[in-house]
Amino acid sequence: MPQSPQGEDCKKLAAFLDSSIDSSGRNESALIKTLYEAQRIFGYLPKEAVFLISERLNVAVSKVYGVISFYSFFTTKPKGRYQVKVCLGTACFVRGAEKIARELESRLGIKLGETSLDRKFSLESLRCVGACGLAPVTLVNGKGYGRLEVKDIGPMLEQYTDGKS
Ligand code: FES
Repeated sequence: MPQSPQGEDCKKLAAFLDSSIDSSGRNESALIKTLYEAQRIFGYLPKEAVFLISERLNVAVSKVYGVISFYSFFTTKPKGRYQVKVCLGTACFVRGAEKIARELESRLGIKLGETSLDRKFSLESLRCVGACGLAPVTLVNGKGYGRLEVKDIGPMLEQYTDGKS
């Protein structure tokens, strides 16, 4: 029977645990490393991954969630294949980042903090990415777009909607 993508990802995570963490190291000390790998595999940390990690590392589920919520890098929400991050830091804000954010929401059909149903795009805000001279700035999967105007948003997103990236 074919495996679901989630099932395949659980297998990959189990294989990582088997190959990278020996039995003496299966405890809380391996938690961050394992969560990092799980998020790399799944794209986020679904409860299947959390329960598998809890069981294999002998760490309580509540402890695993505690670590996930402590580090902003970890997320339990699915992210889009293309992660759009609009800077709302001061320099970007005074140069129109709010309008850029509204245009992104309108074109993607999602609000800040959300992921599209097809999981193609997620939209988030950031506070200063250190490129204030290029304000307003938006990142798509880490690629920066600067001095953006509302009219630039459509062409920018088109690169990610027709197979090009
Ligand atoms: S405020 Fe946006 S890059 Fe600095």
